[in-house]
Amino acid sequence: MSRKKIIAGNWKMNKTPSETAVFIKELSDKVNQTNDIIICAVPYVCIPAALKASKRSRIKIAAQNMHYEDNGAYTGEISANMLLDLGVKYVIIGHSERRQYFNETDITVNKKVLKALKSGLKPIICVGESLEQREMGVTSDYVRYQVAYALNGVSVEDLKNIIIAYEPIWAIGTGKTASNEQANDVCKTIREALVEKYGRRAANATYIQYGGSVNTKNAKDLFGMSDIDGGLVGGASLKTEDFDKIVNYNK
Ligand code: 13P
Repeated sequence: MSRKKIIAGNWKMNKTPSETAVFIKELSDKVNQTNDIIICAVPYVCIPAALKASKRSRIKIAAQNMHYEDNGAYTGEISANMLLDLGVKYVIIGHSERRQYFNETDITVNKKVLKALKSGLKPIICVGESLEQREMGVTSDYVRYQVAYALNGVSVEDLKNIIIAYEPIWAIGTGKTASNEQANDVCKTIREALVEKYGRRAANATYIQYGGSVNTKNAKDLFGMSDIDGGLVGGASLKTEDFDKIVNYNK
């Protein structure tokens, strides 16, 4: 079963709506030759500008978070329906920065995943171990646990609509990339966990990305590994020339 690559930029808290419009226009011209799936996950307030600027391009727009309730007294939050109404198709859920700084837990991640799927959004679910966990030798167990929790109640039909991003916390924004083998081993572990729950066929059809200091130099080798289906790119997705090179990694 051959999977395309899904290459997503996670802008985090960077760029204004005006900068977004310019950036996406510039990027669109550069990435229109690829057959892979290209996503930019932009700040909420940049979504309208990003959607407008990407209209005639291959670039898809994602949100970086959402709430699991439909509506109500949740000051500062955004619902799945609000994103869908704008035309958003993808949403990052459970990024380690949300888990670390904003009290995101496995429970809220699972609630958000179920809500996203029910609403028709495709969640990009982030998992990954800390340096301490890696050094203790519990990476596989921990990541399997995170995946099992996030996918609690997700049917085999819904599995088609999810993307998993393996992002070791120690590799995020540090310039320390996991080696190709380290990254691939964990992505393989995740796929084996999916095989146990959903069967080989469904697991082989699921996209599993790697994220953590992906750059113009390491993208090609990482994306060439057997179980890595593209990347979730932070810092290097903020410059058109770098993201262009990552998207066109095989040229
Ligand atoms: P960096 O590529 O900046 O390490 O960030 C990775 C990330 O957190 C993507 O979600």
